[in-house]
Amino acid sequence: MKRMITGIKPTGTFPHIGNLMGAMLPLRENAKKYDTAIFIPDLHALTSIRDGKILNENIRNGLISYLAVLGRDTEVTIFRQSDIVGLNKLEWILSCFTPYSLMLRAHTFKDFESKKEDYEYKIAWAKWRIDVLKELGPDGSNVVTVNDLKWAEKELQDLSYKLGETKKEYYDDLNMWTFNYPILMAADIIGYDCDVVPVGKDQLQHLEMARDIARYVNHHYQADILREPKAIIDDAIAVIPGLDGRKMSKSYNNYISMFESTADLKKKIATIPTDSLGLDDPKNPDTCNVFALIKTFGEKNEVEEIRTKYKKGGYGYGHAKWDLHIILDRFIAPYRDAYAELNKLSDDELFEPVRRGNAKMQARLDEVMKRMKKYIGV
Ligand code: ADP
Ligand code: TRP
Repeated sequence: MKRMITGIKPTGTFPHIGNLMGAMLPLRENAKKYDTAIFIPDLHALTSIRDGKILNENIRNGLISYLAVLGRDTEVTIFRQSDIVGLNKLEWILSCFTPYSLMLRAHTFKDFESKKEDYEYKIAWAKWRIDVLKELGPDGSNVVTVNDLKWAEKELQDLSYKLGETKKEYYDDLNMWTFNYPILMAADIIGYDCDVVPVGKDQLQHLEMARDIARYVNHHYQADILREPKAIIDDAIAVIPGLDGRKMSKSYNNYISMFESTADLKKKIATIPTDSLGLDDPKNPDTCNVFALIKTFGEKNEVEEIRTKYKKGGYGYGHAKWDLHIILDRFIAPYRDAYAELNKLSDDELFEPVRRGNAKMQARLDEVMKRMKKYIGV
């Protein structure tokens, strides 16, 4: 059976029902096709969380979220990145084979660089503009006014301030993680002989880098030492709409948590914007944010029934919101119940599947390291 792996960052917020439908439930399906492992990349999380207590709370909550979907006796291997001994040794070995020029191309790093360069460019342009304005003569000229010059100088001031902030960020916050991130991620995959990694588009470049790195090692020794992983992007997975009709996302704050309480669910549904048609008016279900969610989470027959009511009239948005509430509450209830049960467990009990997973993945890493040692010597 081919091996699949994915890392789930302990971000702190509970997954929303978009994450659940788009990433967590498909994982259950994938586990039937692949030998599947998921892990908590807590070393990667150090890039943004610098408080051990918060990190561990996030890890506990993340674990609960996944166990609520998969069950405690799941076939899926669950493990914790920092518990595996030797992963960072592999990272170092891989970094010795990774061209500097390859890492310069990483988005994580380039974004920092280009933001700084962008301001430097804009400032050069603003300075040039002021020079030109001065040359044309602000006084007496009917093309250039004193205001033009003032405005240009104000813009320069503004840009210089922003550049200052960006530089501060660049020199203070641009740590080596930004550069090494893709190499650690490559170790996460290559270290366990994984074949496939389901990724979102944002992680695609990292995965290509992992593949390149494995290839450099194999090419150097002219042997198949490391397995070259492949990304899988499932385009068939539907995008779940949020409360405002856009894609449901943490960053749009338009989401419903997979553990949302009945009361909060009601409040959130009440905020869904609709048009102002009255109760008796026939309505178009296909342009309505409420119906978009009904369609996603309802049973086929009830969706059709509600669609007919929309078109007929006599069915108001209050009714639709009430129906949506019933549909979503029914969908969320089993996860909410599982959460309540799992949250009663002590850390020791909760992390039992992780201990099992750690042991299994440690053995896999050891095997890969042993294989490498024959060629590399360490
Ligand atoms: P967010 O946009 O809320 O920050 P993430 O980027 O952390 O979500 O998403 C994690 C995973 O959840 C992604 O791999 C993606 O497949 C899935 N996902 C996120 N939002 C949606 C959505 N609205 N519909 C379907 N899947 C989603
Ligand atoms: N970089 C991934 C993210 O930001 C997390 C991650 C780390 C990962 N190592 C991985 C994902 C290995 C897949 C495979 O979400």
